[in-house]
Amino acid sequence: PPARSYTIAVLPGDGIGLEVMPPALRCIEAAAKGFGFKFEFRHYEWASCTYYHKHGTMLPPDWKQLLQACDAIYFGAVGDPATVPDHISLWGSLLLFRREFDQFINLRPCRLIPGVISPLANRDGKKIDFVTVRENTEGEYSSIGGRIFEGTERETVIQNTVFTRVGVDRVVRYAFELARSRPAKKLTSATKSNGISITMPYWDERVEAISKEYPDVKVDKYHIDILCAHFVQRPRIFDVVVGSNLFGDILSDLGPACTGTIGIAPSANLNPTAKRGEPGKEWMPSLFEPVHGSAPDIAGKGIANPIGMIWAGQMMLEHLGETKAAEVMMKAIENVLKNAKDAQLQGEKDLLTPDMHGNGTTEGLGRAIEEEIGRLV
Ligand code: NAI
Ligand code: MG
Repeated sequence: PPARSYTIAVLPGDGIGLEVMPPALRCIEAAAKGFGFKFEFRHYEWASCTYYHKHGTMLPPDWKQLLQACDAIYFGAVGDPATVPDHISLWGSLLLFRREFDQFINLRPCRLIPGVISPLANRDGKKIDFVTVRENTEGEYSSIGGRIFEGTERETVIQNTVFTRVGVDRVVRYAFELARSRPAKKLTSATKSNGISITMPYWDERVEAISKEYPDVKVDKYHIDILCAHFVQRPRIFDVVVGSNLFGDILSDLGPACTGTIGIAPSANLNPTAKRGEPGKEWMPSLFEPVHGSAPDIAGKGIANPIGMIWAGQMMLEHLGETKAAEVMMKAIENVLKNAKDAQLQGEKDLLTPDMHGNGTTEGLGRAIEEEIGRLV
């Protein structure tokens, strides 16, 4: 049979996006080589502030066709707040992709990895391993509302939350399916039905209704305020956590922060129902990115942690169905971090980047993971 081949749109963006992308591409190439598939990378410099400065727009007019010609989008980070306002750079690229490709799931794994010092690590020796599922298209982040009587005493500002049955059901169902596929089979829903008395009771109602289809999955719910406290104080109790756009946004930053540095955290923006080549339907590719931004404070120094970008590549392989290659990549990240910590403690060559309390480099850590993947395949 012909070798499996995937076309990937590579958008490094700005700042450290440009530094972490090359090692991450080498890592996924190493995994592909070991498991008999290939990548065709299409490198684009747009969706960056550099492009914006040259062209006055974030994207070329045919961006959508170019991305739809690919199986997936591999995205670095966008933003140069000193020269381009964030609402232009982000809304003109990443947030547009999420909306135009209806990437209604934002998925972020939170896992405590040996070797990474977390503010919560080693409290009781038990592991932290959960996933946050955020609704990514509607909810609190709607454009419905406005201002009236501006500049007068009656100045009035309203922004409405939009929960649609379709929108709520599909994210909740996705979260149940994910919980069902994991050993702990547990789903936690983020709510605030005691304060937000119309939309949140509706959310709870849909979770409750859909839970009937998943008798094998344990379900619980917490109000968002105490849920945040539990993320910090009892992170082990979680398996899959589902939230609306706003609550999911908060939890999906808090989760990775609790497991150490945002430098290692990955994120997937998924349209899980789209199938490439389905007749009469537009193809909607999914997007894989690190959680972090362009980090202007450390850009150009060669010390950015490449693991968030590499781990996002691991999620991309999983999404493409290359499960074995994805497993090996995860194992390689874990092995390298563990060994790097041991080496550091023994005063040997330090591979850990400064955000992990070391003095390693992007290049050094990236090479180590690439070589470990080569060893494991
Ligand atoms: P940031 O994530 O870029 O940086 C926050 C802090 O974490 C900084 O101190 C940075 O040095 C550190 N950091 C981030 N990634 C790291 C890595 N891989 N290794 C080591 N340290 C790392 O967030 P910030 O500073 O709020 O935003 C900077 C720019 O990035 C802004 O323009 C913002 O809009 C944009 N941004 C873009 C995102 C995206 O493309 N998805 C996400 C978040 C921010
Ligand atoms: Mg956020």
